[in-house]
Amino acid sequence: MSLENRIRDDIARLSKSLFDRGFSVGSAGNISAAVEDGILITPTNSCLGFLDPARISKLDRSGNHVSGDRPSKEIFLHRAFYETRPQTGAVVHLHSTFATALSCLSDIDPDDCIPPLTPYVVMRVGVVKLLPYVKPGDERMGDMIRNLGGCYAAALLANHGPVVTGKDVISAVFAAEELEETAKLLVLLRGVPVRMLSPENVAQLKDVFGGF
Ligand code: 13P
Repeated sequence: MSLENRIRDDIARLSKSLFDRGFSVGSAGNISAAVEDGILITPTNSCLGFLDPARISKLDRSGNHVSGDRPSKEIFLHRAFYETRPQTGAVVHLHSTFATALSCLSDIDPDDCIPPLTPYVVMRVGVVKLLPYVKPGDERMGDMIRNLGGCYAAALLANHGPVVTGKDVISAVFAAEELEETAKLLVLLRGVPVRMLSPENVAQLKDVFGGF
């Protein structure tokens, strides 16, 4: 099987896994992956639970739609990550419940909206930026992500949901799951005194496991 077909299968398999466990409902969410000559992305209005690998949209390096069904309307935000973070092999955008709940709060730190509660969120996700609300598919989301200059591997889109990157589809999906579960803990722990990891703990994790 060609590498591209393996990546198509990974997108379909992991999308279904996310859907089956409730990380995505209806036609919410989209997943993309870099391939040698462009980007694969889930089709617009498709359900992550029922993707046909052969119908996944393909765009060339200039962003022209070359095959498959019509691409996700969020292609601008996906492309902006590939353009500014060369280490990006895949991008996952979800409307998962708890990360989206945090994205609706008016009192979170926009420069660090998922504080270091557990080691794995530091290791898999890094610091998360909150980006201002624009409507789904708005080209300005691409500009906002480009303006981050590649410094963040993940963001919360205000009142909308998380977007997470990784070196390949499985890493990006695992990071999206880690972000969602940490967001759930943060919501559960709201209003009670919480001990976050210390700056020293975070520095040690970056030293040992690599940083963002
Ligand atoms: P698409 O169906 O165009 O991928 O959009 C779904 C979505 O999650 C919008 O944010």
